[in-house]
Amino acid sequence: MNIIVVGSGGREHTICWKIAQSPVVDKVVVVPGNGGTAYESKCVNVNPKNCDYIKEGENPYVAIAKHENCRMAVIGPEDPLAEGLADEFWKADIPCVGPKKAAAQLEASKDLSKKFMKEYGVACPASETFTNKDEACEYIKKHGAPIVVKADGLAAGKGVVVAATVEQALQAVEDMMGNGKVGAAGKKLVIEEYLEGVEISVLAAVSVTPEYAVSGNATIVPFLPARDHKRLLDGAKGPNTGGMGAVCPLEDVTDKTMKQFDKDILQPTLKGLIKEKFDYRGFIFFGVMLTSKGPKLLEYNVRLGDPETQAVLPLMDFDFTSMCTAILNGTLKDFEFKWLPGYQVAPVMVSGGYPEAYEKGKEITFNKPLLNASTAKVFVAGAVEGRRGDGDILTSGGRVLACSAYGSSFKEAWEKAYQGISAIKFDGAFFRKDIGLPGAAESGKL
Ligand code: AMP
Ligand code: GLY
Repeated sequence: MNIIVVGSGGREHTICWKIAQSPVVDKVVVVPGNGGTAYESKCVNVNPKNCDYIKEGENPYVAIAKHENCRMAVIGPEDPLAEGLADEFWKADIPCVGPKKAAAQLEASKDLSKKFMKEYGVACPASETFTNKDEACEYIKKHGAPIVVKADGLAAGKGVVVAATVEQALQAVEDMMGNGKVGAAGKKLVIEEYLEGVEISVLAAVSVTPEYAVSGNATIVPFLPARDHKRLLDGAKGPNTGGMGAVCPLEDVTDKTMKQFDKDILQPTLKGLIKEKFDYRGFIFFGVMLTSKGPKLLEYNVRLGDPETQAVLPLMDFDFTSMCTAILNGTLKDFEFKWLPGYQVAPVMVSGGYPEAYEKGKEITFNKPLLNASTAKVFVAGAVEGRRGDGDILTSGGRVLACSAYGSSFKEAWEKAYQGISAIKFDGAFFRKDIGLPGAAESGKL
């Protein structure tokens, strides 16, 4: 079977690597892919710009999928999901892993997702939505700080301000609603109660359609809990980034916490997806704050997390492609999930200057014997194939790659991951040295 994967990040490299391991897979067509998928076994990168067979007005992804004889599609990022790419694949008779447009709005609109959480009793922080600037400011003054200001729409990770003071919160409202700092995403704001705690990411497989709801097969199956490290510097300091590294599973998350998560967040979400009659066959990401009053949901993402995927998928001791088939055909409930017993640590290497301006086009070099000895797997994010075609790759983004290693203990995984990192060099490379260590997680304290 041929499968099309949409996206170009580290998450997509990981998905492609995992899909390619399946004996039923002949070819993974990655659109557009990156410098990692370019060299991955069974994978081929396709850039729509180079496909003269795509007719005007035709959806380029669907055209490529048809041309390449793909019988399954997997969509990585949120933007194409929010725009309805899953609907397009289904219309063309290509089964697609990723929710249809209506369900994808759970990530694309904070207001809609908060309404959904409240309607179905999902444990979450109190909030109110505003389209009027003065009313938003009044609410902030009444409630005081700390308080959280969120743009309603997709804002590439820039739409949330956790304000320590009322002044900061008012400034955030001014920036988003008044000055258009996040564009149309800031026309509506959600103002939310600030929660203190530690964050975790729970990624999960979802198989919900109205038909599966009737047959009793609608389900959400969570993966092992993971954690992203969003701040740039060691000790959870410095500016927010797209993620400086991830670990899975988490020693500080007990079975009791996961049971509470299931009861207060996952099951009400499942009930909601069913009631809304969504066609949601794909992945969901629960951004959860563990508070003294139990787990509370901060957000849904309608996709796998990045860089969490780079730490979670390598622990899967089952065929990822078969799981995707089970998601699609309503047999996920009976699918046998088996996990490796150890730990995965995945620090990220970024370009010097990131998350501000950075240079691109730096050649990445690998000390192959050292990298092989570490047993770490490199998942490429912001890097492209070089011109020589001998495996050379050049940086092209802020987050360049993740170096993900397995260990039977956390310590072993950590040491192997950082041994791997020490084998990789590029001009200006920067990474956090404390991914997964005590004090590395954000505590949520302002
Ligand atoms: P979101 O996109 O809603 O997950 O927000 C981005 C980040 O802002 C989260 O990962 C948290 O670190 C922080 N955050 C969001 N909502 C809250 C909240 N209610 N209380 C404290 N921190 C929050
Ligand atoms: N790691 C956070 C995200 O994928 O949104």
